[in-house]
Amino acid sequence: MKLKNLVALMLLSGIGQWAFAQGTSYSQSSPSGRIALHFQLSAQGEPNYRVDFWGKPIVAKSKLGFYLESGQLNQGFKLVQQNTRQFDETWQPVWGEVANIRNRYNELKVVLENATGQLEITFRVFDDGIGFRYGLLGKVGQSGELSVMEEVSEFAMTGDHTTWWQPGDWDSNEHTYTTSLISGIDGKKYLNETSISTQFIPDYRACQTPLAMRTATGVHLAIHEAALVNFPAMQLKVNNATRTFGAFLVPGKDLWRKASVPVGFQTPWRVVLISPDAPGLLASKLILNLNEPCKITDVSWIKPVKYVGIWWEMHLNKATWDFSGSQNGSSAQGTAGHGKHGATTANTRKYIDFASEHGFKGVLVEGWNIGWEDWFGKWKEDVFDFQTPYPDYDLPGLAKYSLEKGAPIIVHHETSGSATGYEKHIDKAFDLIQSLDLHAIKTGYVGRIIPKGEWHDGQWMINHYNRVLEKAAAKRIMVDAHEPVRPTGLHRTYPNFLASEATRGNEFNAWSKGNPPEHETILPFTRGLGGPIDYTPGIFNIKFSEYKASPNEYQVHTTLAKQLALYVTLYSPLQMAADLPEHYQKHLDAFQFIKDVAVDWDDTKILAAAIGDYIVTARKAKGSENWFLGAITDELPRNQSVKLSFLPAGKTYVAKIYEDAPDAHWKNNPTAYKIRSIEVSNQSVLALKLAAGGGAAVSLIPKE
Ligand code: NOJ
Ligand code: CA
Repeated sequence: MKLKNLVALMLLSGIGQWAFAQGTSYSQSSPSGRIALHFQLSAQGEPNYRVDFWGKPIVAKSKLGFYLESGQLNQGFKLVQQNTRQFDETWQPVWGEVANIRNRYNELKVVLENATGQLEITFRVFDDGIGFRYGLLGKVGQSGELSVMEEVSEFAMTGDHTTWWQPGDWDSNEHTYTTSLISGIDGKKYLNETSISTQFIPDYRACQTPLAMRTATGVHLAIHEAALVNFPAMQLKVNNATRTFGAFLVPGKDLWRKASVPVGFQTPWRVVLISPDAPGLLASKLILNLNEPCKITDVSWIKPVKYVGIWWEMHLNKATWDFSGSQNGSSAQGTAGHGKHGATTANTRKYIDFASEHGFKGVLVEGWNIGWEDWFGKWKEDVFDFQTPYPDYDLPGLAKYSLEKGAPIIVHHETSGSATGYEKHIDKAFDLIQSLDLHAIKTGYVGRIIPKGEWHDGQWMINHYNRVLEKAAAKRIMVDAHEPVRPTGLHRTYPNFLASEATRGNEFNAWSKGNPPEHETILPFTRGLGGPIDYTPGIFNIKFSEYKASPNEYQVHTTLAKQLALYVTLYSPLQMAADLPEHYQKHLDAFQFIKDVAVDWDDTKILAAAIGDYIVTARKAKGSENWFLGAITDELPRNQSVKLSFLPAGKTYVAKIYEDAPDAHWKNNPTAYKIRSIEVSNQSVLALKLAAGGGAAVSLIPKE
């Protein structure tokens, strides 16, 4: 399994003396042997690695190392130490897609030394990919801080793969995805993007991660990182000609320095997922496995939740966040006028009653606190205090009422990008939430960051997001973060981190050209690999023309049935039923699926998938025999046959199928659906017809 290969070469120099040069290499294979990692220290002391899949290179020879202010950590190295280790354990996440996760890998660790100091590189080789991280050990006896200028890590691809990417924006992950060959990656087209309020794309050759790829032979790859702590996000700069991606760290306000870390610092893990097919990428738990185990001892208060809220009505312009109606806002955030304040006591009670009647365990209320008159686009530090409600919002009374009704309020903390403003008030704001016996917040970072000069994805902000998670955990508060850095599996360590946005969510359909029908077939393979998405599905009133100036060019780019399927295909322990109660009242039969579907799972099967085309997923509800299935397609209609062989043998299930009507179409006829129930077993094959931009949702309940 382990292969050690020490190559010593004796070279004859030009003047007839014997010189000694050394190339050292070590290999480590995955537990089954299908993936092999080869580490090499070249004759010049440059570290590099290669990854083989079934004996053939899948990541070609790629550089490793760092540039520090104090010197280079990528050449002139000698090997100080190497060791290997095997690891195999099964652990249980607090919530998740499966009840048990096997963490099985073979490790190779090397310690290298040059004049700048020591560099440790730890490789973990799994059957579904590899991870590596660096230890910046400094010189022997050194202490203090190290300034990181750039990371040298490369990911050299072996061909011109099909790639699903979005640009390397330092402030946003809210772009649509482009599908192109590696040679065609060019972010220039994103200059035309107008619907993202805060964006900065300094380099057209840079991409965000997770980045997904498919080789000509159908092998699937994704590059991302795990356990992003005290470090900037890693983006990738592509060399279109050599098909090589290079790590690019998002800077902070000191543009010359990417990060400042203590001597001995262990970087986040660099991850390459490798799978023979698309479903394998979604089944991988490698990123979670590279994160530290749960740090919260009492997790009894952490609960996956389906919620409703005073939210979509602001995005539709039916209501406003601000009390006075004086807000200028922007096209992207809603501009309805005076007298339309959404977060009133009466309206909140209406939502709590609706949630309670239909079994939802949370009610998000946005626009409850003073500050919204002045929140957007001002780059001001002091906007909100996160404690003072508007005069028409009875915070303690509503909190009490929501608890009595079993649908506790989710408290909204929009920072308008002022992280320092948030940190000024966060302790008191969290104390207030705790005093009300509430346990969930939604944070938001719309706007340019304060401290001025910082970016959403730089080291300062990464530390801020993580501080918020830790402070929240101490106060028994669950977090749903909007506009943060994209997740890296930290929810294993902090399971109070239920979900985040860091994506182009459903809201873009309300006020921009929106999300193309293929969008949700790409998301799980890209952004979704890092952690749960608060996508806010469940819009039934697809065209919402009654709320928009005519002619209304906006709409949700799916059918109604596909909105249902998203509750299964887009994994999250936090799922919103995002539409207004009055729109659900009109389709209570379809609404039943959202009421029934689970948000926590014992098991998940990715039954079929092609990135950008379709996904079929089945999940078994936690602690129950019920299964739920979602099938979605892109802009093309599809006949999808689904074998139910995942059901237990010898048991009859009632399959309730919510599907597109024969004449449904995301643009021309999005709300045409039908519902049928049939009896099935694990021998059955469902024939699902998905309309263009459509989908199907199925609940599978054992027959009594
Ligand atoms: C953007 C968030 O994504 C959205 O959910 C929220 O309603 C607005 N910001 C206001 O905070
Ligand atoms: Ca497609």
